[in-house]
Amino acid sequence: MAGIYNGDATVVRQDRYSTNCWKMTLAVPRHDAVEAGQFCHILTEFSTDPLLRRPFSYWDVRDGDDGTLHVDLLYTVVGRGTEAMARKAPGARMGYLGPLGLGFTPKPAKTWVFVAGGVGIVPFYFFAKQARARGRNPRMLLLFGGRTEAMLYGIDDFAGVGVEAQAVTEDGSRGRKGLVTQLIEEQLPALDRKDLQVYTCGPERMMEAVVRIARREGLPCEVSMEKHMGCALGACGACVTRVLSDDGADWRYSRICIEGPTYDACRLVLE
Ligand SMILES: Cc1cc2nc3c(=O)[nH]c(=O)nc-3n(C[C@H](O)[C@H](O)[C@H](O)COP(=O)(O)OP(=O)(O)OC[C@H]3O[C@@H](n4cnc5c(N)ncnc54)[C@H](O)[C@@H]3O)c2cc1C
Ligand code: FES
Repeated sequence: MAGIYNGDATVVRQDRYSTNCWKMTLAVPRHDAVEAGQFCHILTEFSTDPLLRRPFSYWDVRDGDDGTLHVDLLYTVVGRGTEAMARKAPGARMGYLGPLGLGFTPKPAKTWVFVAGGVGIVPFYFFAKQARARGRNPRMLLLFGGRTEAMLYGIDDFAGVGVEAQAVTEDGSRGRKGLVTQLIEEQLPALDRKDLQVYTCGPERMMEAVVRIARREGLPCEVSMEKHMGCALGACGACVTRVLSDDGADWRYSRICIEGPTYDACRLVLE
């Protein structure tokens, strides 16, 4: 079935990935091809608690052997919705709406640098996998920061899709001790800045710091925003961020569920 799918999804698998991180595979009817960086909106319970759907990036999407599409989500448990998800066993059903939003733009640069923090890592696995499958051959370098090694979700999977991964942790349990922004500053001198594209996703303050570095260095940068969402269809206004107006002279609110979550960093108005 083409188009956006809005209906039931069935849990096929649920595996613990690290201390507080789960990987869930959902079976959904075939829908529009997913572009890496898009998201789906999940109704974790068919009840009023939690009332709202929760947005999740696609970690992977592939054809299931049962004629359905198999969608992998990687998530951490932070509240009621994700707690409900972690309780689901194979066979359980949830509401699914997707794919939504705009995905990453695969740029022609020779080197792609992914800068990720926390679950901001999720869209990059599928982005790299999809780009390789489509014959794109940039050098891909992942700079991933977390508080501890257990929060470097899925880092060891990236070698399998041709990504060099470097880690930094706040407690020094993996990689060097520090912040991911320090890792960028260290790596930049060794990279050909004229042929470089930065992509970033993670906590808001981390992304803002990455955007400031990219602007200072004149590097093109695409950002994937993670805001609270309500409808994910552009109707409620829960998910706005500030962007420059088209003439660049002023700013306006942009609904990230339909104009994002990916944005050219040049368009963002930082706090
Ligand atoms: C486009 C998009 C893609 C996302 N992809 C993933 C993903 O792949 N994996 C994943 O684990 N999470 C992802 N998230 C975040 C995920 O949607 C939230 O963690 C989830 O909605 C929390 O629901 P909850 O009911 O468990 O927690 P809630 O009870 O709703 O919130 C618990 C706590 O988390 C905070 N919180 C909730 N949502 C967000 C948010 N979007 N940004 C910042 N703080 C938040 C709340 O302020 C609160 O402190 C994504 C968000 C967006 C917008
Ligand atoms: S979540 Fe409702 S407008 Fe974006």
